[in-house]
Amino acid sequence: MNKEYKDMINLWSGKIKDIKPHAHWKEGLGEEYFNYLGDVQFQHLKYFIEKHNIHNIFNIMEYGSGGGCNGRLLCKEFNHFFAVDISEPNLKEFAKQMKLFYNDNFTLIHYDGNNPDTLGDQIRNIDFIFSTAVFQHLPSLDYSLKVLKNFNRMLINNGHICIQYRENPYPDKPRKNTEYLKNYIRMLTFTDNEIKEQLKQSNFELLELKKFNKLSKTYKWVLGRKK
Ligand SMILES: C[S@@+](CC[C@H](N)C(=O)[O-])C[C@H]1O[C@@H](n2cnc3c(N)ncnc32)[C@H](O)[C@@H]1O
Repeated sequence: MNKEYKDMINLWSGKIKDIKPHAHWKEGLGEEYFNYLGDVQFQHLKYFIEKHNIHNIFNIMEYGSGGGCNGRLLCKEFNHFFAVDISEPNLKEFAKQMKLFYNDNFTLIHYDGNNPDTLGDQIRNIDFIFSTAVFQHLPSLDYSLKVLKNFNRMLINNGHICIQYRENPYPDKPRKNTEYLKNYIRMLTFTDNEIKEQLKQSNFELLELKKFNKLSKTYKWVLGRKK
């Protein structure tokens, strides 16, 4: 098993001592910030949907659904929500939060992070894929490309992806983040060219790259459409 993948799974499943992977749980963030974060991320998603006239989103999937700050709103807005995560404790927490928000239109999918090539095996006919605060935790560009290729096969024709990622502030320097457990917060960052290239290779048309003023300024968002 690839060590980085193993560390990633153990970390997010709460098996690494002294690291708290539950930072995005309501309990960890505090209720006010948990709600704020979900509200802002949802507003950003709506910005893209409205600006690009995206209609008929019935099935939405969140990759790395964590403690449910997005799910609480997305379940209300869309017909069915697929919560995908490598962490069983996070999926359990997600389900607990959804009950508190009276949401029951979701399916939990535990994905084996060791095998990014299998990500798309379990799901089809998704209209829209959303992911926030996850891509920076992926172990490599090679891994994120596999994830994007699988997003492509899970989506309907002309389906969309909206991904928040961290920008690489030093595009001309060699990458330094090689040890997952030390660098998981900013394990993977992308230059504009890298994100464009990954979309191209995974067969997505780039519709928009954007920075918003709320939340961290190191975040960027990309909207793509399946070709
Ligand atoms: C920082 S939390 C973000 C949760 C939520 N998206 C949000 O914005 O609050 C990162 C989530 O991604 C999950 N995750 C980490 N690596 C992943 C991977 N390779 N594939 C899918 N999910 C992953 C973690 O288990 C965790 O639930």
